[in-house]
Amino acid sequence: MTRAVPKSHLAARAVSVKSSFRTRMLELSAGLDGIIALGRGDPDFDTPPDIVAAGAAALAGGYTHYTAPPGLPELREAISRKLKRDNGLDYPASQIIVTNGVQEALLISILALVDPGDEVVLQAPRFNAFDYMVNLAGGRVVEVPTLEEDDFALEADAIRGALTERSKLLVIANPNNPTGGLTPRGELARIAALAEEHDLLVISDEIYEKLIFGGREHVSLGTFGNLLDRTVSVNGFSKAYAMTGWRIGYLAAPEWFMEPAVEIKHTLSICTPPALQRGALAALERGDEAVASMLAEYERRLGLVLRSLDDMGISYGRPGGGMYVYANISGTGLDAETFCLELLRQEQVMVFPGTMFADPANRHIRITLLSPYASMEEALGRMRRFVERTRQS
Ligand SMILES: Cc1ncc(COP(=O)(O)O)c(C=O)c1O
Repeated sequence: MTRAVPKSHLAARAVSVKSSFRTRMLELSAGLDGIIALGRGDPDFDTPPDIVAAGAAALAGGYTHYTAPPGLPELREAISRKLKRDNGLDYPASQIIVTNGVQEALLISILALVDPGDEVVLQAPRFNAFDYMVNLAGGRVVEVPTLEEDDFALEADAIRGALTERSKLLVIANPNNPTGGLTPRGELARIAALAEEHDLLVISDEIYEKLIFGGREHVSLGTFGNLLDRTVSVNGFSKAYAMTGWRIGYLAAPEWFMEPAVEIKHTLSICTPPALQRGALAALERGDEAVASMLAEYERRLGLVLRSLDDMGISYGRPGGGMYVYANISGTGLDAETFCLELLRQEQVMVFPGTMFADPANRHIRITLLSPYASMEEALGRMRRFVERTRQS
């Protein structure tokens, strides 16, 4: 005889995870045809063929066993060189762990650094996986807002205002998701000084580092002062190289962090699949041209989105990088969740509301740049029709 097990048997940390708006959108989209998806942060490009060939050759060539938990030596060496060359960061290969996506790098870091009751400072809006991870570790999220009028760049003074004696860790994604906010060098220097002054540990998520618009500069937080001693820099391959399904990323960290972090990596996944690590190596060695051409196309699409939003009279923060535009639809009279559901239902265009990114104001939507130009044109035309209809009603 089977007995129904009550939900109360779930651990408290599992119960506190809320079911997401994403599920509602997916349920609604199941009954619709002709959807243009500008929702998920997954490039429409396929992984460049050179990289795929390297991964496939590795599989055929016997890279089918466990590796040491931190990864293949040749990839860790290549990442160490990349961090020095592109970012001015000095992390030897021994201080690098190859992970299953940046997601795992973040989880390892947060589990290694956050005790129950510790406060973790996060920018808002943000990639909300951070919240789940802090929750798993028993930490408490403290928010620092970023604003449309600042193009969603982070300000050191706002961080200062959020600090208490429980503040332990500052997590910054630069450029940020969903806003494309790019925090400039001067402000990063002030944030770095603040972290040292308040003895904060730092996770710097630089996954969008290669996707910078308008020739602006990306600066790694770990380059300031003595910040490298207290900074875990995370980065990966998903976005820049169109490798989301490969699940490859890495963290680079101070020496004191490595032993427990390697144990956590081993506990979570033993190692990152070695054939895929060989693909990542090819991306570092031969991927630059492909990244540049994808970036050029994203910039072209960005121009289209911004022009279209201007035409619709919808404001936004101008993204400094990333793959998204965070647009303020409050002038339509709808909240962002209703806007997204109705746009999907009426015009079959999928975008996500800010509430999916820890932005309870419910006034912004995230539009991705991840569909071919012609279909983005079509989607924006449909959105315009929808906005005009909504304003008239
Ligand atoms: C800021 C940020 N960090 C990490 C990730 C996860 O990346 P990965 O696919 O490498 O796990 C994302 C994905 O959207 C992201 O936006």
